[in-house]
Amino acid sequence: MPSPNDLHLRFPPGFRWGVATSAFQIEGAAFEDGRGESIWDRFCHQPGAIADGSHGDVACDHYHRWESDLDLIASLGVTSYRFSVSWPRVLPTGSGAWNPKGMAFYERLVDGLLARGIEPCLTLNHWDLPQALQERGGWAARDTMHRFVDYARGVQRHLGDRVRMITTHNEPWVIAILGHEFGTFAPGIKSRKTAYQVAHHLLVSHGLALEAMRADGAKAPLGIVLNLAHTEPATSSAADAARVELDEAMGRRWYTDALFKGRYPQLALDELGADAPRVEAGDMAHIATPMDYLGINYYSRHVASADNSFDAKKSGLPLTAMGWEIYPRGLTGVLTTLHHEYELPPVYITENGAAFDDHMDGGKVHDADRIDYLRGHIGAVADAMERGVPVAGYMVWSLMDNFEWASGYAKRFGIVHVDYATQQRAPKDSGLWYRDLVRACRERSST
Ligand code: FCB
Repeated sequence: MPSPNDLHLRFPPGFRWGVATSAFQIEGAAFEDGRGESIWDRFCHQPGAIADGSHGDVACDHYHRWESDLDLIASLGVTSYRFSVSWPRVLPTGSGAWNPKGMAFYERLVDGLLARGIEPCLTLNHWDLPQALQERGGWAARDTMHRFVDYARGVQRHLGDRVRMITTHNEPWVIAILGHEFGTFAPGIKSRKTAYQVAHHLLVSHGLALEAMRADGAKAPLGIVLNLAHTEPATSSAADAARVELDEAMGRRWYTDALFKGRYPQLALDELGADAPRVEAGDMAHIATPMDYLGINYYSRHVASADNSFDAKKSGLPLTAMGWEIYPRGLTGVLTTLHHEYELPPVYITENGAAFDDHMDGGKVHDADRIDYLRGHIGAVADAMERGVPVAGYMVWSLMDNFEWASGYAKRFGIVHVDYATQQRAPKDSGLWYRDLVRACRERSST
């Protein structure tokens, strides 16, 4: 086993290294150049929805600072940048007339990345559905699937020749479950039945969008991004073992069985009963349209407990500022599970990272805890690759501190610090560590 300092030796030439963000979390300029309202704009202004009462109106002001932000990305030496297009910025009411100023922003961004030698990795839906479509039923309505396909086709036609990958949806589980069952994320609905209908529509719209973009001659690889945890039982009891099966069926396998096998797990359908989604003829075949890659966002494990008694605070594992257990082995675990169960296309770790309570100290952030987190998880990716999992790239969440959804600005995930009063950016120690790792890998690749 190579020493930790040889981490870079465990990655092959051509492995992609990136940083990730999303439109709503960094852009701001919520009312500029004809941008329409999104469900997150609306949700933020509901009292109590966001922990610190904040919103995305300004965020990291990236809409105005994009050029220096691209220089910042280039200074980290990464090969790839994952960002999302704001649907209401380019189609203010979700359908109909395109907003040329909005599209021009993404043209500048993509061209600016290419000019700096960085591959643009574009996500179409990182949660900011146009509010006008929510008013017509949102993701619970089948019509939204067709509006999404039109949006995907338009973006592909404008930018598809210049981007390195196009992701349909980021984390459909979060949109469906946190947005429509628990109601802790936009649009704040609390109905299990609606949540699974939404999950189904997101998956069908993903397949339809792939088919439509391919029919239009798309050259960029097309795929989806799932948030996947590694599931383990709380105890060795039979009840907890059964709970692992149920949680896997309702969570991970709902998505991966549908995408790779064209069916929902029977266990999940039985559990849902009357809450199971309405599935129309042909839907499952669209969902299972082959993908060019799979994106995986990994943060922690999931512990299945039949009596819901598991408490991360008592597990003995170190926790991040989100209260999430730090468990790099779970990343190897989930990757090898997927490799065993399905014929995987190339896999990208499209998000991995951690929030900690950072302190600025003379212009520097000494975030040794984040470096440990990244080192452990990147090593876990190498472990999975050594077991045959076809991982082609890794992206840190996040390039910079940003609007962390219901947690507001209080939780900082960046490898670059953002001072929200001045909008000044400063790489944290973790950013410099990542830069050095990427440089070592790329130098090796070029020799
Ligand atoms: C993921 C989201 C991303 C970010 C991280 C911490 O679920 O895709 O936008 O908020 O969590």
